[in-house]
Amino acid sequence: KRIAVLASGRGSNFQAILDALARGEINGACVALITDNEDAYAIERAKAAGVPAVVVNFRNYPTKAAFEADLLAAMHAADADLFVCAGYMRIIGSEIIRAFAGKMINIHPALLPAFPGLHGQRQALEYGVKIAGCTVHFVDEGLDSGPIIVQKAVPVLDDDDEEALDERILAQEHIAFPEAVALFCADRLVVSGRHVKILPETP
Ligand code: GRF
Repeated sequence: KRIAVLASGRGSNFQAILDALARGEINGACVALITDNEDAYAIERAKAAGVPAVVVNFRNYPTKAAFEADLLAAMHAADADLFVCAGYMRIIGSEIIRAFAGKMINIHPALLPAFPGLHGQRQALEYGVKIAGCTVHFVDEGLDSGPIIVQKAVPVLDDDDEEALDERILAQEHIAFPEAVALFCADRLVVSGRHVKILPETP
């Protein structure tokens, strides 16, 4: 499958997917990085991997609508089967979500439906939960609300600060995301309503 990645910053999840592709664990190819931020370190990662980077720089647009029109065009141009939001930090408008329904996935650093929105890790720490984690899900029109594909849990330790918990969750993100992308690319995900069934591997 043709995979396009949307990322706004560091891009460590993007890298985890590139690495899994290089190891042959995903039946696909990364055809584009699309970013809203010209300073995103993800661009360097794309260059190193020979993936074309498309910058739709949010700061150059007078309105979100104008920005999203170009983002939509960039996504169409990528002609991807799967759009992976890997630390893409903007809420995506409904027009784009509808255009790519069932083809967009996102990672969130919390065990959804707990702690949607920004700083899932901080919210977990502040709430006092003993188990935290990450969730890969299909993108729908709500905030971090689409059907769940993969979740990984980690313990919250008594003396965790945000950085320590972030790091523990991020390590699991780097496992969960390539896993979800591989399942999608192997046509092993069947979505029905809220539920995502994972088909067994075919030999
Ligand atoms: C991750 O924690 C992801 O869950 C969140 O933003 C962070 C992105 O990290 N939405 P990176 O850019 O993939 O390194």
